[in-house]
Amino acid sequence: MSTEQTEPHVPAQRTEEPDLSAAATASTRLLEVEDLKVHFPIRRGIVVERTVGHVQAVDGVGLGIDSGGTYGLVGESGCGKTTFGRAVLRLEEPTAGRVRLGGEEVTAMKGERLRRFRSRMQMVFQDPLGSLNPRHNVDMLLSEPLKVHGVGSKAERRKLAVETLDAVGLPKSVLERFPHEFSGGQRQRLGIARALMLRPDLIVCDEPVSALDVSIQAQVMNLLDELQDEFGLTYLVIAHDLAVVRHLSDRVGVMYLGKLVEEADSETIYERPRHPYTKALLSAVPQPDPEVEANRERIILKGDLPSPANPPSGCRFRTRCPWAEDICAEVEPEWREAAGGHKVACHFDL
Ligand SMILES: Nc1ncnc2c1ncn2[C@@H]1O[C@H](COP(=O)(O)OP(=O)(O)O)[C@@H](O)[C@H]1O
Ligand code: SF4
Ligand SMILES: [Mg+2]
Repeated sequence: MSTEQTEPHVPAQRTEEPDLSAAATASTRLLEVEDLKVHFPIRRGIVVERTVGHVQAVDGVGLGIDSGGTYGLVGESGCGKTTFGRAVLRLEEPTAGRVRLGGEEVTAMKGERLRRFRSRMQMVFQDPLGSLNPRHNVDMLLSEPLKVHGVGSKAERRKLAVETLDAVGLPKSVLERFPHEFSGGQRQRLGIARALMLRPDLIVCDEPVSALDVSIQAQVMNLLDELQDEFGLTYLVIAHDLAVVRHLSDRVGVMYLGKLVEEADSETIYERPRHPYTKALLSAVPQPDPEVEANRERIILKGDLPSPANPPSGCRFRTRCPWAEDICAEVEPEWREAAGGHKVACHFDL
């Protein structure tokens, strides 16, 4: 048994009184992120170091995830997805913005309170065992998070490890084995088991299946799906692969150069993408239906992702956007909401 679960969760403390409709929405929200920024300083100089600029890895991202829901965050490599996920969990110190979990402001927490709160949020990585001590067997790897949080006796931790292994489809016998003895899919099951050991509320899955063979990817995605119901989990799934996000998410956000450019329900974003960047990402995905595939409109993006240390003025996507006009260089498009909660940042209704 995780003692974390028996600890009373302090009820939400509100500093300002929102209107009733907002309060009704907030009650089912597990995670609320407001205008989050993570800027990394760029330092130069050998004798005296000085800051010559900032990498705007995440530059004002806001989103919410309902309890039990899954939010998929997509975008090409380098657009700030991992940094966003890490900042939500306070593994990266945000430059600005707020993160609330269950109504409590994580960004304001310090010391012991933050340490205890951290157990409610876990991360699953692309290669979750890669960064861990190769001389630790599975028993040690799974027990470690509980030890860090001072949860249970040795026997209790072992019992919980066996239960958790069972939940991810691995036998008790793997407890004595070592990370290098496992296949990619098994390693990811172990990574998920480790994240589950503290019975968290939120799991950030960062590229959870990117390192796996296609045939194994579906198994791991199905496992994540099953575990969500079994353990009442809320997921933030990060991936550059739209198919992965589509399979798992009910809400999808598309990120470009540190900002969200579009957000909608999963179905909507795939059927009616509005932002040119989303259209381009989707147009690059081959369709299984040969007729649809033959008529697929391909939008080829020119150039590379600009540097997040020096993003383009106005709309950050303008240097690669086939529809860009003069206004796009001058004015940053608003984050506006269209029908059905579909949000998009573009000057035009495409
Ligand atoms: N610790 C760091 N220091 C400086 N720059 C960083 C650091 N971590 C990430 N970055 C930069 O921030 C940007 C976003 O990176 P990342 O969040 O890893 O993107 P993604 O996960 O979408 O590939 C990249 O330009 C990356 O080089
Ligand atoms: S605002 Fe302009 S540059 Fe940006 S996505 Fe829309 S059309 Fe393209
Ligand atoms: Mg990443």
